[in-house]
Amino acid sequence: MAKRIGILLSGRGSNFEALADAVASGRIPNAEIAVVISNREGAPGIEKARARGIEALVIPSKGKEREAYDREVVAALRERGVELVCLAGFMRLLSPYFVQEYRNRILNIHPSLLPAFPGLEAQRQALEYGVKYSGCTVHFVDEQLDAGPIICQAVVEVRDDDTPETLAARILREEHRIYAEAVRIVLEGRYRIEGRRVFVTRED
Ligand code: GRF
Repeated sequence: MAKRIGILLSGRGSNFEALADAVASGRIPNAEIAVVISNREGAPGIEKARARGIEALVIPSKGKEREAYDREVVAALRERGVELVCLAGFMRLLSPYFVQEYRNRILNIHPSLLPAFPGLEAQRQALEYGVKYSGCTVHFVDEQLDAGPIICQAVVEVRDDDTPETLAARILREEHRIYAEAVRIVLEGRYRIEGRRVFVTRED
């Protein structure tokens, strides 16, 4: 049976599209995207999902208490039999309730080499700090922001003439590649977690 993925997003949705492409092309085998959920009305990612014939829901978060909101989202995911949750530009911290319900089955992509530059505008933070290399990270989600065990990272060189936008664009290409790779590893169960370390076993 195809493993059911749920995507949570708040905006553009390019990582969602990269995952949908990887599922459609078989780079993520035996999987389907069961639902895309946005906390924001008008998130472009929602329209992109509908255009692909994927169910897309808006569950507005505005004015809701964190756990009450997460209970609504978890209920929607459970109703659809979602086994793996992928955060793809979802601009909210998850409650301990959500993390517990899907322990080690929630992934996030972040546009820096964590633990450097967690939080917002990671590419701008990297430029302002003056690092020569940045990149992106796919990690399991725990109760802290951008902090769970790391599954995949990719390195991107910072150029002298980079702006936050040009750096973000080069990082984004790597995000799309490693997010699909990480989802495949997790769905195939080809990893074990020891403390903070994730050991990936090779494909047969
Ligand atoms: C990406 O840079 C991702 O790393 C970060 O938010 C951005 C979302 O972009 N978490 P998109 O909506 O997937 O295009």
